[in-house]
Amino acid sequence: MLLGSRHRALGTCQAVLLGRPALPQLVDPRKLPQRKLGSKVGHGAFVHAICHIEFTAINLALDAAVRFDGMPREYYLDWISVAAEEAEHFTLLQRHLNSIGYDYGDFTAHEGLWDMAERTRDDVLRRMALVPRVMEARGLDVTPDMIARLRSVNDVAAAAILERILDDEIRHVAIGSRWFAWLCAARGLYSQTTFTQIVAAELGMVRADHLNRSARLAAGFSESELDCLVGSDSV
Ligand SMILES: [Fe+2]
Repeated sequence: MLLGSRHRALGTCQAVLLGRPALPQLVDPRKLPQRKLGSKVGHGAFVHAICHIEFTAINLALDAAVRFDGMPREYYLDWISVAAEEAEHFTLLQRHLNSIGYDYGDFTAHEGLWDMAERTRDDVLRRMALVPRVMEARGLDVTPDMIARLRSVNDVAAAAILERILDDEIRHVAIGSRWFAWLCAARGLYSQTTFTQIVAAELGMVRADHLNRSARLAAGFSESELDCLVGSDSV
C-alpha cells in the first residue's frame, strides 16, 4: 500500500535525527511476507528489498569510516568512496521503485546486515572479515540470479542497474579484502586461517554453495580461500 506524503515527510525528518528513516518498518526476517515476483506487489517488494540493502550499505560504509581509529588515511578514503557509491545505488533503485509505483518504506524490511555491524563494532579486523568479506561477498554470489529473475519478469531496467551495482560491489569487497589483509599483516596473523577462524567462531555453519568464483577472485579472495569455502562445512 502506498503511504501518504505527510507520513513520508515524517520519515524523512526522523532520518535526520536517527540516521535512518522511520520507514521501512523493521521486522524479524522470518516475518517478511513471501510474495511471487510475477505479481505487481511481489515485484515491488523484491526491488524494495534490494533498495533496503543499498540503504544499509551506505550506513555500513560510513560506520566503517568513522568507528575505527588509527587506520591509514587511505582506509578512511576507501570507505567514504564506498558510501558515495552505495548512495548512488540506493538512488538508482529508489527511482526505479518509484517508476513501478512504490517508494522506499512501502514494505517491511529486516536488519540482518546491520546486526553484523553491531556484532563487530569493537574490532576492525572482525568487521572487515564479517561485513565486506562475508555479508557483502554473498551479494556477489546471489546477484547474477537476481538479475536473471528480474529479466524473467521483463524488468530490464532493474537488471541493468544490478549489473552496474555488481561491478561496484566487487570493488567494495576488494576494499574489505585489502584492509583485512593489511590488519592481519599488522597483527602478525596468517590471513586465511584468521578469516576461517573468525567466520567459524561467529557464524558456525555457513552455506557456501553457488560461489561467484570469478567475482570473488576479483574481490581479493584467493583460490585456496574459495576452495576452503566450498569444501568446508564451517565456512
Ligand atoms: Fe551497493
